[in-house]
Amino acid sequence: MNSHATPSLPIDFQRIASSQLLEVVHKAPKAELHIHIEGSLEPELIFEMAARNGVALSYPSVQALRAAYAFTDLQSFLDVYYAGASVLQTEQDFHDMAWAYLSRAAAEGVVCAELFFDPQTHTERGIPMAVVIQGLKSACDRAQREWGLRAELILCFLRHLSEEAALQTLQDALPFREHFVGVGLDSSEKGHPPEKFARVFARAGDLGLHRVAHAGEEGPAAYIRTALDLLKVERIDHGVRCTEDPELVRRLARDGTPLTVCPLSNIKLCVFPDMGSHNLPQLLDAGLMVTVNSDDPAYFGGYLNENYSALLQAHPGLGARHAWQLLHNSLVSSFAPSDLKHAWLQRLDEHFARAALA
Ligand code: ADE
Ligand code: ZN
Repeated sequence: MNSHATPSLPIDFQRIASSQLLEVVHKAPKAELHIHIEGSLEPELIFEMAARNGVALSYPSVQALRAAYAFTDLQSFLDVYYAGASVLQTEQDFHDMAWAYLSRAAAEGVVCAELFFDPQTHTERGIPMAVVIQGLKSACDRAQREWGLRAELILCFLRHLSEEAALQTLQDALPFREHFVGVGLDSSEKGHPPEKFARVFARAGDLGLHRVAHAGEEGPAAYIRTALDLLKVERIDHGVRCTEDPELVRRLARDGTPLTVCPLSNIKLCVFPDMGSHNLPQLLDAGLMVTVNSDDPAYFGGYLNENYSALLQAHPGLGARHAWQLLHNSLVSSFAPSDLKHAWLQRLDEHFARAALA
């Protein structure tokens, strides 16, 4: 597989002016494949839920909480993110959080969202698995009904916890097996290599679940290799550090392995000093199946379209052809059935063809 696709219609990309491009991208059909639903919890909703659930927060106001969103690395973010998630208690809370995100996503042209959730963040606080999954799932079903937005769940294991805990989590989720399409691996990367989770990923594979993992965000390129070889993942979340291993880059390009890159996240967590230094253009040039995603939009200063905007504005060398490629990659890399993907890809091409004629 190669990621340099050709549109199904003739599209004269040169005719799409750079002044028009952001609007074209914002209105285009697209998929979001790397969004932690707990990372979409806005401070206003955190305060509302804290009040209704009687949870004490260590910040006096929404403004004070938002002011604390100055991160130096992944761990400094995770500490705040787990504290924020502690307000989630009831099925209604999980529903409301996911519904807020999905409503926004629908307005941004998202036709397919594959949502990560971290059950251990909640079950460790005594929240039943049923509350978490049923609350999220009811919002996903509602998004399909009300917006025609396909929303699926991916259950993530926290890599700072043990593999035994991950195995137990998977077991506890089995009564809800039909409510999630895959498993992922997130949280503190350094010091927690993929191989720590080989058995639980093998078990997930036996259950017919899709497999993805965060690798090469802060951790080394070697973690991308072990995620592929030992966890048998189909996509790599982040993966930006693959460029430290040219042979790995060739392998990812040859296999068409999707990388779910999150530009604003990478700047907020100091993976790159600024957007102009982000290596996404280099990844695209290497023929990788790169996609753009928001990661934790409530914490990183932007939802999906803001990620596209920030990236395209900081890299004027990325034009309409590249933007189309990123959108195309997002749809191709989803876990949706191929007939749906083809219909979305056709809509994407028609959208760009129309823009080129305008
Ligand atoms: N959990 C939420 N966001 C994450 C990220 N960017 N990396 C690892 N774990 C996460
Ligand atoms: Zn992530």
